[in-house]
Amino acid sequence: MKNSSIKESLPTKDSYNRHIDYLRISITDKCNLQCVYCVSSKGLKYFRNSEIMTDEEIVRFVRAAHKHGLRKVRITGGEPLLRKSIVNLISSIKEIGISDLSLTTNGIMLAGLAEALKKAGLDRVNISLDTMNPERYKEITKKGDINRVWEAIKEAERVGLSPVKINMVPIRGLNDDEILSFASLTFEKDYHIRFIEFMPVSSDGMWRREKCVSSKEIIEMISGLGALESFSFRGEGPSRNYRIKGAVGIIGIISPISDHFCSSCNRLRLTSNGKIRPCLFSNVEVDIKTPMRNSADDEEIERLFLYAISIKPERHKLDENIAVADHIKNMSKIGG
Ligand code: GTP
Ligand code: 5AD
Repeated sequence: MKNSSIKESLPTKDSYNRHIDYLRISITDKCNLQCVYCVSSKGLKYFRNSEIMTDEEIVRFVRAAHKHGLRKVRITGGEPLLRKSIVNLISSIKEIGISDLSLTTNGIMLAGLAEALKKAGLDRVNISLDTMNPERYKEITKKGDINRVWEAIKEAERVGLSPVKINMVPIRGLNDDEILSFASLTFEKDYHIRFIEFMPVSSDGMWRREKCVSSKEIIEMISGLGALESFSFRGEGPSRNYRIKGAVGIIGIISPISDHFCSSCNRLRLTSNGKIRPCLFSNVEVDIKTPMRNSADDEEIERLFLYAISIKPERHKLDENIAVADHIKNMSKIGG
């Protein structure tokens, strides 16, 4: 490969002319919750520690990708705050020059870490919260205490991990009766409430098309709260954003099922065991951990990053064949 510094900060285009500048990194497959829509209750077999990418390996990969235009990184899991070195890892990634560094968390451990994470260079957080009812929260997550999530949200706001985004996956018959309460939060708080269509990733057979509340239905429901104005926030990502007249916060709708956003997909994923995954819903992966552990030089790592971009598929085929999602035994292995 030629001197790659020439390309620095220019995003690399894939075969379909999409600029790939966003990497989602799952730093652990472990989670302290067991949300019904995310993991399978059977066969939860975690990677051994030696299979998981080390901090040095992750940072080395981000550095290589940054030379080719990576500017946005999201840390996911499992639950990323379970990783003991999380604060140092954030600081090492930020130092590379990543301009938008965010983290998706269930919030259970966030309150005590928010300030240190912010100081280390974390820009913002997305917090998963699918119900405001404490009993229901326990039912959905199997073991979570919702009070800790509210504390986390407040603390994230206080230290400026903003905008605070709240991810809600509405599932018919489980929590869809709370869509309006979540949307109404935006009248008081400048949160981004993001409704995410239920995707067929759990292998417990819980997913049924009729349980997935479509974006169209969600929009119809929340329109009852007031006129919806389209609101572009940083103008990117899969979320279509709206503001209800008179509200301070924003509503985001993410519709991987009813209206896939593949044509503007700008992301790659790195799994916790060191595979680059060009599409969430394809099991094609590029191993970078093995070459790294076999003394690959930096140019080789950059070449693998560019190769993964070059094989990114045009689109997922979820709407044609739900069975393709069978590769995703549980989301926590790949990162939400
Ligand atoms: P920001 O807008 O930058 O905050 O990022 P984001 O929208 O990617 O945030 P987040 O990670 O919270 O994504 C929200 C959810 O959308 C994820 O948890 C997934 O459920 C879903 N999602 C994110 N990326 C993809 C993707 O590439 N494909 C599909 N099908 N779903 C995705
Ligand atoms: N459908 C939609 N989103 C999911 N997530 C995990 N599993 C699913 C699913 N089956 C996403 C949620 C959660 C994040 C960690 O992963 O957005 O907030």
